[in-house]
Amino acid sequence: MDLRMFVDRLQSMGKLQVIEREVDPYLEMARVIHTLGERPVLFLCVRGSSFPVIAGLCSTREQIALGLEIEAGKLLPTLAGALRQPVEPQCVDTAPCQEVVEPDVDLMQLPVNTHFVEDGGPYVTTGVVVMGDPDLGRNVSYHRLQRLDRRHFAVRIVEGRGMHTAWSKTGEDLPVAVCIGNSMPVLLAGAMSPAPGVDELSIANALGATPVVKCVTSNLEVPAHCEIVLEGRLTHELVEEGPFVDLTETRDIVRLQPVLEVDCITHRSDAIYQTLLPGGCEHKLLMGLPREPSIFEAVNEVCRCLNVSLTAGGGHWLHAVVQISKQDAVDGSRAIGAAFKGHSSLKHVVVVDESVDLFDPQAVEWAIATRFQADSDLNVLHNQPSSSLDPSATQVPGKKARTAKMGLDATVKWDSGDKQAQLGSYEKVQYESVELGDYLPGPQD
Ligand SMILES: Cc1cc2nc3c(=O)[nH]c(=O)nc-3n(C[C@H](O)[C@H](O)[C@H](O)COP(=O)(O)O)c2cc1C
Repeated sequence: MDLRMFVDRLQSMGKLQVIEREVDPYLEMARVIHTLGERPVLFLCVRGSSFPVIAGLCSTREQIALGLEIEAGKLLPTLAGALRQPVEPQCVDTAPCQEVVEPDVDLMQLPVNTHFVEDGGPYVTTGVVVMGDPDLGRNVSYHRLQRLDRRHFAVRIVEGRGMHTAWSKTGEDLPVAVCIGNSMPVLLAGAMSPAPGVDELSIANALGATPVVKCVTSNLEVPAHCEIVLEGRLTHELVEEGPFVDLTETRDIVRLQPVLEVDCITHRSDAIYQTLLPGGCEHKLLMGLPREPSIFEAVNEVCRCLNVSLTAGGGHWLHAVVQISKQDAVDGSRAIGAAFKGHSSLKHVVVVDESVDLFDPQAVEWAIATRFQADSDLNVLHNQPSSSLDPSATQVPGKKARTAKMGLDATVKWDSGDKQAQLGSYEKVQYESVELGDYLPGPQD
């Protein structure tokens, strides 16, 4: 199901808000999306652009699951399965994303949003960028793009990740293709960070058929059914990028970042431009949800992992709850170490047992209150590589930021004595319910 089929599906289910009056991409559109609580919205008339704009497609786990045509409870195993067994996509000769080819590039025709007055400029926020690493092959990742003029963007490339590695080792311009308006499989796979050399478009194709087509100006292949493709080159010219509000809802700092020069725009004849709110729930979920299977796989290597949740309060990025079936006294501590390996930006993790609902913050806090002792169950790691998005981390120009990390083992504990008797003292009691009609007056009484 490509983006427009998903939009149609949402509309037929009564879940799509359509706005017909003209809306300005400068500040106004972001404010409307936010005021609507990021539910799916289609803007038909956008000031200064002929492209309609869609937002809010990935703002809940349920909607993401709908876009994959699965139940929400199946998200983690489905993503983990595709990560484990990617399927190479078929390459086609003609594609909807190339119905219109525009070599005379004018980025001003795109409805690129400015979200806050203080922003460094208008930003493309849903750009899934395809490039080829000279040694590792195709890599796909999101990059925020700050529009500079008719042909140029400043591109944020996080240090140490696939794009940064490829760009750092090529002295020449690096061909890239920015895909906007993608299917759910591409939106999720683009946010994954599989082992080096594993192709994210093959992961997308394992999640749902994702044929690819060769670009007009390079040998890169892009999802044939996306809406808009910006073909170009990541140069070695550096400019100031930012400020930009990122997923912690705080302003990321201004850095020197490379310039992307666009050589050609291709798009569907009636293309829809996709946007999302920086720092909004869609941004957070798209970042975090595709990392849950990586943590799940890593923890499963050291003990039995049942589920993983990157929680909303940590921006679905910095905080996780890991649920395990504890077999060995040290499984909680093992799970902490593995979770940090599974997601290098993770800062704090809580490990709980199967009896604790990891999606309920109050239940997780109860597990910490009743199963955790700070002098024996707390793992603190010093001076670790971290997310650049945490304003309290130590920023190192041109390198990964540094942080302290903390893991809380909030699982039940037992020693060499009677294990069953010890476990019993941790169990939460349950009241039995009664039939209230036996106790309360009825309507006629
Ligand atoms: C909405 C969204 C925006 C993102 N913006 C950026 C960005 O501006 N720069 C960046 O380096 N990563 C960004 N990311 C994260 C990368 O896409 C992600 O880390 C990717 O999986 C890296 O893959 P790699 O390790 O295979 O290179 C963003 C992710 C999402 C979902």
